[in-house]
Amino acid sequence: MPAPLLELRNLHVEAEGSRILRGVDLIVGESEVHALMGPNGAGKSTLANVVMGHPGYTVTDGQILLHGEDIGRWSSDQRARAGIFLAFQYPEAISGVSVTQFLRQAIAARKNLDELSILEVRLDLAEWMDRLGMDPAFAERHLNDGFSGGERKRNEVLQMALLEPIIAMLDETDSGLDIDALRVVARGVRTVRDEHPLMGVLVVTHYVKLLEEIEPDQVHILVDGQIVHSGGAELAQLIDLDGYDAWRPVTT
Ligand SMILES: Nc1ncnc2c1ncn2[C@@H]1O[C@H](COP(=O)(O)OP(=O)(O)OP(=O)(O)O)[C@@H](O)[C@H]1O
Ligand SMILES: [Mg+2]
Repeated sequence: MPAPLLELRNLHVEAEGSRILRGVDLIVGESEVHALMGPNGAGKSTLANVVMGHPGYTVTDGQILLHGEDIGRWSSDQRARAGIFLAFQYPEAISGVSVTQFLRQAIAARKNLDELSILEVRLDLAEWMDRLGMDPAFAERHLNDGFSGGERKRNEVLQMALLEPIIAMLDETDSGLDIDALRVVARGVRTVRDEHPLMGVLVVTHYVKLLEEIEPDQVHILVDGQIVHSGGAELAQLIDLDGYDAWRPVTT
């Protein structure tokens, strides 16, 4: 059997001396959509950041394998070039950088090119914006400068569409997103998967509504840095009804 797309083996992670992930095993195969749920502070964003190679975290044990290759020592740039994607969330507007300019740099980095012609980017961008039902004027907006929740999500989906990742991680940490913003993400994931059917997806979310739209193959519940349960999409419904308490490890 070929090695899976992404595999985490007994992953232990620390940041600033505190243990955050404590033995995570997870396999995301090609074409699969996985959802990661769990209470605040469980380590969900940490997991996505560590897979991306964020330098603020230390892997103290275990492995991260991409198609069977241990990528633990790769820089985040190398991982991005290999097709690992984590949507950038900008807490602050980046002044003076338009959506197009940002994407041009990101695509050049992913494809290991010094420079990418503006024309080339514009064509791809226009095509994807059309496919995703976006207003062309959006491309000229400055990053996150007064973006609504839905617009931030559109930006995230555009990044994913244009960077053509082999594994896309979406960390939906925002609270208070309305259903339309969630649909942007769900529809975007579907549209990009239509074009790139082998892409694996890992969605971090608290939103059962999002999962109803995305229809994950598997749902994993992360509590205190460990996956305490994995199951089908029905797990999300149970969590919606009962919360996470039932899944907390019994401490004596
Ligand atoms: N760089 C860091 N340095 C120190 N501690 C960190 C760091 N990143 C995360 N932590 C801590 O690790 C724990 C897990 O954080 P993380 O952001 O991964 O949780 P989460 O599951 O994404 O939560 P939420 O649902 O609120 O987004 C928290 O206690 C957090 O304070
Ligand atoms: Mg988080």
